[in-house]
Amino acid sequence: MSDPEPSWPLWVDLPLRRTHADGRPRTPPRGRQILMVFGPPGSGKGSHCPRVGELLGVPHLSTGDMLRAAVAAGTETGLRAKDAMQAGALVTDDLVVAVVVDRLAEPDCENGCVLDGFPRTEAQAVALDDALAKRGNQKVTKVIALDVPDRALTARVCGRWVHEKSGRSYHVDFAKPASLAALPAGAAPTPETMRDDATGEPLARRADDTEEALATRLQAYHAQSAPVLAHYDNAGCVARVDGDRPPEQVWAAIEDVLAA
Ligand code: AP5
Repeated sequence: MSDPEPSWPLWVDLPLRRTHADGRPRTPPRGRQILMVFGPPGSGKGSHCPRVGELLGVPHLSTGDMLRAAVAAGTETGLRAKDAMQAGALVTDDLVVAVVVDRLAEPDCENGCVLDGFPRTEAQAVALDDALAKRGNQKVTKVIALDVPDRALTARVCGRWVHEKSGRSYHVDFAKPASLAALPAGAAPTPETMRDDATGEPLARRADDTEEALATRLQAYHAQSAPVLAHYDNAGCVARVDGDRPPEQVWAAIEDVLAA
């Protein structure tokens, strides 16, 4: 049997660097952190956010994951969100704001959170600012904006497979699960060959990971979400990271921002 093809290291295995290049120790920021990771579909938010949450000791709140869980559970929120999500359109502001405000009220968010995929409209940003202000003058502490050009996103999104329960994200070329990497080159990605590294359970494709839905998602991103960055630029808390390079380099840059 031939050697397994090389694969990107799994996100969870990317090393945490304990020191700066000049040897000074890195210390994660202290105090309540309300951090946001921002970027177009496929830019790496879901890949890096769990690691950021782990580093800061706060939960990772992905509105996409929360809405997909609601769809899978058939709740009223899920029923209202399902069609828009499948088509790649944004769900309504009132729906997603209610989901996030409820989640922020849970005790594990006391010391902060990592927001992934929220806010995506100016109205959501204003609602978030209001909700945080009411919780003892809190505000967003940092926004990490992942810059990735549209041309790189199709291959990422259309090759993605996910572990639905955990939200762990894999890719047929860029982040193979061990199950596919162990097979000879050219093995087809199927639920049999694409299995979660941690649980061995089959991975799945997302309903909105099609070229057609991606076009709608990118349109929504550029028209409605990208302008939200200006809202936080005014507050001076945006750090831009080049996300169009190998994952370990993107992670190193994110760590630099967190330790700055
Ligand atoms: P959501 O789940 O948030 O999707 P999204 O924003 O479109 O982002 P993705 O999850 O597609 O991408 P990602 O940046 O997490 O990329 P990933 O790390 O997986 O939202 C889905 C839907 O829910 C929306 O369309 C909307 O309908 C609704 N919704 C959610 N929030 C909402 C809100 N606030 N308001 C209204 N509606 C809302 O990476 C992608 C792939 O690339 C992976 O396979 C990964 O392995 C690979 N990859 C990652 N980084 C690299 C790299 N550096 N090099 C090579 N490959 C890489």
